[in-house]
Amino acid sequence: MSKRYYVTTPIYYVNSVPHVGHALTMLACDICTRYQRMQGRETYFLTGTDENGLKVYEAAIAAGEDPIAFVDRISQTFRDCADSLDIEYDVFFRTTSETHRKAAQKLFEVIRDRGYIYMDKYQGWYDVSAETFVKESEVVDGKSPDGNPVRWVEEDNWFFKLSAFEKPLLEKIENEPDWLIPAGRKNEVVSFIKQGLRDVCITRTNPGWGIPVPGDDSKVIYVWFDALINYLAATGWPDGNWQDLWPADVHWMAKEIFTRFHATMWPAMLMAADLPLPKAVAAHGWFVFGDSKMSKSLGNVIAPDELVTFYTERAGCAEPIAKDVVRFSLARSLPYDGDTNYTREEVARIYNADLANDLGNALNRSLSMAHKFCEGIMPSAAVDPAAHEAILRHKKLAEDAMVPLKLDDFVSAGIDLVRWLNKYVDDRAPWQLAKENSPELPAVIGSMLTVVANAAGMLKPIIPTVSAEIARQLGVSGVQKWSDIGEADLILAGTHLGNPEPIFPRLDKTIMEELKPQAAPAEPKAEKKPEKKAAPEPPSVIEFGDFMKVNLKVGRVIEAEPVEGSEKLMKLQVKVGDQMRQILAGIKKKYSVEDLIGRQVIVVANLKPAKLMGHESQGMLLAADDEDGQAILLQPEAEAPEGANVH
Ligand code: MSP
Repeated sequence: MSKRYYVTTPIYYVNSVPHVGHALTMLACDICTRYQRMQGRETYFLTGTDENGLKVYEAAIAAGEDPIAFVDRISQTFRDCADSLDIEYDVFFRTTSETHRKAAQKLFEVIRDRGYIYMDKYQGWYDVSAETFVKESEVVDGKSPDGNPVRWVEEDNWFFKLSAFEKPLLEKIENEPDWLIPAGRKNEVVSFIKQGLRDVCITRTNPGWGIPVPGDDSKVIYVWFDALINYLAATGWPDGNWQDLWPADVHWMAKEIFTRFHATMWPAMLMAADLPLPKAVAAHGWFVFGDSKMSKSLGNVIAPDELVTFYTERAGCAEPIAKDVVRFSLARSLPYDGDTNYTREEVARIYNADLANDLGNALNRSLSMAHKFCEGIMPSAAVDPAAHEAILRHKKLAEDAMVPLKLDDFVSAGIDLVRWLNKYVDDRAPWQLAKENSPELPAVIGSMLTVVANAAGMLKPIIPTVSAEIARQLGVSGVQKWSDIGEADLILAGTHLGNPEPIFPRLDKTIMEELKPQAAPAEPKAEKKPEKKAAPEPPSVIEFGDFMKVNLKVGRVIEAEPVEGSEKLMKLQVKVGDQMRQILAGIKKKYSVEDLIGRQVIVVANLKPAKLMGHESQGMLLAADDEDGQAILLQPEAEAPEGANVH
């Protein structure tokens, strides 16, 4: 059997319930596998739950539940989440399964036998909430950089020789530029590795939950080391036909677990075991809600099924269509480089604009005019070459987008073809051709129907039910193979077309108003003033205690983009320890995006957030003035630990 196209989501923690952020990664994988199937490949799609962590165990105890019953219950909510959006996974993998336990213990043994796992003494701070060790320098007031309480751990433990893989990992990244996706995030991984990789402690004292270390029941395997193995365990490794699946074609995730875990630790573990590495590791950005990441712990989540219900009950879509509405809005909003503010209002805007106005309208007018001017029968006239060219051009755009997995561009290619069609209809004005008895009319109507059928085919991986419904209304079976697009006669001459039935009833004004967030407070005047001139004169002397109130930290610029309409401002995503901050800085004249990405900076970390040009800034960078008053960014003289305090 030839190797199947194998795609994975992260396996989700079961300490709380799923939301649209989790659904987003499931959808990214679902689109990839549906597209590959249209390309004629067999696929395998893994999602599942990560159940062995201490925080899951503690969440169960806190909920007063038996841990096994607890993980069963929450794990089911992630399956339900997938089902609520027609996510077609092949395996829902759980790390409390016997298959996983065996594979995790086996891989531990293999790596230990090959000399990359050794016993040593561990002492340090542990953040249970993030399931990660925290450096001494990162602990402030008994809290980790994420603001979680830390506890002191001191015990003999097993260590993984991560340090041995610095060079091989850097070589891999250098030699295979497409391995890490998107390319922008690669720099972060490179600088993370170049800072020096320390060996990691990969076991904990056995709390009665987790996977025991082979030959040492007093310890369990560290939850991240254990969880990453799921991708391999699900293939059946080390038995059977695991090579039908392994290596995975792509591991999808969001950015917070990309650098340290999926782009560094997991490939190093595979190298240590002499196993092939995944072919691609891809990270998307976050869905944020207002200013913060949408997260279970912040309680600002939107559940996918809640949106499906909204589009069924309030918009009046059929339920299977409402699922596609949510899928489309997720894919359309997929943050690739930055983050997206995914709100109910934004979903409604996408619904009205792309689905009701563009796609719904294109289908409706094509079918209505075919009934009006061609008796509801597909004309035999040849398709307009301009329409054929538009189909092929957008098809190529979609294919090109799928190479670097730019799913947002893939969606745009399909919807842009629909827009092209709406413009074509306006330009060719079939009603006018009919009035003039023009011989061109049948070709124009036939072209319109052909473009709708092809656009529905291109959008099939994203909105499969809508695509099938469009084909049904056109009276055909629709695009099955990707190669049909632009090539096959999708609607044979003489086909009896169905009647147009609206798929996406428009959301009316009242509903749109309801969805609007509360009016935002007036923006501070700071927006209009150039930041430098606005800085107030400091008092000539301050108390030491005043200075100590300022929390200065080392950060790293992960993303940078010029703020549109501003001469000076750059919008930066700065990683401070394990936290991401958006910071607006007046450095555009002096620094380009390339100058900034990967650079270490000094951040005033406890500055009250402010809005500049409509963007929130959550901190400030320290800089000196040059002769022209332009900023020269301060930077540690040597690479400093991430998030280090500055005195
Ligand atoms: N259990 C680990 C992963 C182990 S993989 C071997 C974990 N679980 S998690 O429940 O926290 O899931 C994190 C993942 O959920 C993200 O990487 C992303 O795929 C998805 N998302 C969760 N919240 C999200 C947003 N707000 N926005 C985008 N994706 C989000 O980490």
